Amino acid sequence: MKLASKLRRFYHRVQFGREHSSKRGLRSASDNGLYPAFCRKAAANSLLFSQFRRHSVYNQILEHVPQARGQRYLDHVAEHYPDLLERYDDFRINDTVGYPRTFEFEGIGTTSPTTLRYVKVAGQIRELFGENLEGDIAEIGGGYGGQLLVLDQLVGFRRYTIFDLAPVNLLVERYLDCFVLNGGYATTTLNQCAGDHQFDLVISNYAFSELPQAVQQTYIAKVISRSKRGYITMNSGKPGTAFFDGRMTLEQLEAALPAFEIVEENKFGAGEYIIAWGHKTAPKSRARVNTKRH
Ligand SMILES: C[S@@+](CC[C@H](N)C(=O)[O-])C[C@H]1O[C@@H](n2cnc3c(N)ncnc32)[C@H](O)[C@@H]1O
Repeated sequence: MKLASKLRRFYHRVQFGREHSSKRGLRSASDNGLYPAFCRKAAANSLLFSQFRRHSVYNQILEHVPQARGQRYLDHVAEHYPDLLERYDDFRINDTVGYPRTFEFEGIGTTSPTTLRYVKVAGQIRELFGENLEGDIAEIGGGYGGQLLVLDQLVGFRRYTIFDLAPVNLLVERYLDCFVLNGGYATTTLNQCAGDHQFDLVISNYAFSELPQAVQQTYIAKVISRSKRGYITMNSGKPGTAFFDGRMTLEQLEAALPAFEIVEENKFGAGEYIIAWGHKTAPKSRARVNTKRH
């Protein structure tokens, strides 16, 4: 590590402290000591909160979608869900808090590439599961709540529960309470969940896939296997994926999850894929189907 980055790391440790949510072996990539401590501080400190989305500590985990990738999400939305561009201002509210990095995009003006990703995911969820999701949604690893906020603008839901680390949930609540939502939300942790609740849809993007295997298995038992429908963006499970080591393999997932289909593969990142089950449209030419019946 170069001296300058060592010094920056030391400075951040002094500024934010150090906090791990889980013991060694049960930590996700983001449970790195600094990010949970930063989230706790950003939730409590108005100045830090006002610009948390462009802080270098936060950007190691979130809000790091480059402009070029944002353009690819925009192109996808323009091709598949063009009506969303006509009402892009509804989604731009996700750019109004936390001072995100924004760029100019042709046709829609200035926005954050991360917001564009949330809009692409929301469009795909609407395509797969319909306009009104109703019921109870669970999201594993909700970031700061941006996906929830964009979905709240696009589809109807009754209750949306974000499962994340306890200090991250503080930031989610501070963020979401800046807005007025149509649906209701709650935050919780894996351990606060008794595993006796039925969800209508579980969502997880770049989060369930980054958890250690033991934690993945408990999320499957308590949340995922109890969800009628599912949408999970994966960056682990297959050799060559960013988080392959120490996570469940695709074969293990096929044995443990409800029967799913890979609905998108290698489109936005090498090795990344999206699995879904319980969806109404099963577009042709989609890759692989797990035929296990539940
Ligand atoms: C790379 S971020 C993705 C965030 C968000 N899904 C998105 O698409 O922007 C990973 C998320 O997983 C969360 N996370 C880490 N460990 C977790 C755990 N044990 N349970 C739930 N979420 C966790 C992080 O706090 C973070 O919100």
